[in-house]
Amino acid sequence: MKKIGILTGGGDCPGLNAVIRAAVRKSIQAGWEVIGFKNGWKGIINNEYVSLDHNAVSGILHRGGTILGTSRTNPYNDDDSTSVDKIKNTFKENGMDALIAIGGEDTLGVANKLAQEGLPVVGVPKTIDNDLNCTDYTFGFDTALNIATECIDRLHSTAESHNRVMVVEIMGRHAGWIALEAGLAGGADVILIPEEKVNIEEVCNLIKKRHSRGKTFSIIAVAEGAQLDNQDVTTEEDLDQFGHVRLGGIGNQLGKMIEDKTGFETRVTVLGHIQRGGTPTAFDRVLGTRFGVKAVELILAGKWGRMTSLQGNKIVDVPIQDAVGVLKTVPEEYYNMAKVFFG
Ligand code: F6P
Repeated sequence: MKKIGILTGGGDCPGLNAVIRAAVRKSIQAGWEVIGFKNGWKGIINNEYVSLDHNAVSGILHRGGTILGTSRTNPYNDDDSTSVDKIKNTFKENGMDALIAIGGEDTLGVANKLAQEGLPVVGVPKTIDNDLNCTDYTFGFDTALNIATECIDRLHSTAESHNRVMVVEIMGRHAGWIALEAGLAGGADVILIPEEKVNIEEVCNLIKKRHSRGKTFSIIAVAEGAQLDNQDVTTEEDLDQFGHVRLGGIGNQLGKMIEDKTGFETRVTVLGHIQRGGTPTAFDRVLGTRFGVKAVELILAGKWGRMTSLQGNKIVDVPIQDAVGVLKTVPEEYYNMAKVFFG
């Protein structure tokens, strides 16, 4: 019987279990066996896996997170120079015929390098940030977007009751998709994203203009990756194995500036990992399911180094190589459209 390995890497996101379940169900249908590596690339380096049969993936479709665990381990940049060789050994030792790597830019970057080294690897794109190229959407984004929108809805009533400015800090490291669309859907009065320079004077003028029309409250949606004075706002200096800083804190800095410059009482809410936790939306469950089935179809066809992708309403495949390297950021014209609703 042929054998497929599967792993989930990078930040978790709602819909991962739908992919795992679908890949296992499709493999069983094809007469293949599946093993799941624990905690991303760490699990395949250390050959730590669980067997994934019908029972193992029963009852997980609606569950957030990943039953396999995840990590931000980078085999090309960890403390052990033999990590990539260990991965190759794991393939041999287990008699593995293929690997499905489910992840974002970082995890798929590793998958791409391994495929270029000749390993039979396919990829499935995931990230709540929706910043992966060559796919219209990644699963997890829709859930995060809906959570952030509901939070903005909830902030409205308390903002209005207290005549306050509410700053809401939303996830999005290099791309502002969640902040932009939650801001649009929730009726935020200013939206700030990493792709656009933040002009604090302009933000304050927009708030003042709104209040001069008789409005007594405002909602400001800011992506954690938006920059102040062309600098990331971070909680610590250390970089992870993929070279990322841990972002956070722009909401509080912005809130203070707004209060100082406008005189309006301001409060800050940081949504944080609430956006990544819990049950996936129907959209993310269906997208994850379609990706999981497609990943096994790619394996059956021997299409190594390819990634599943949503284009329009079709599930297609693209080279992983094309999806990594350059991020899919918010186009300027989309942000300009959103500006119609500022102030
Ligand atoms: O990449 C997804 C993401 O949620 C980003 O929006 C955020 O900056 C980052 O992960 C947080 O990572 P961690 O959970 O490791 O703190």
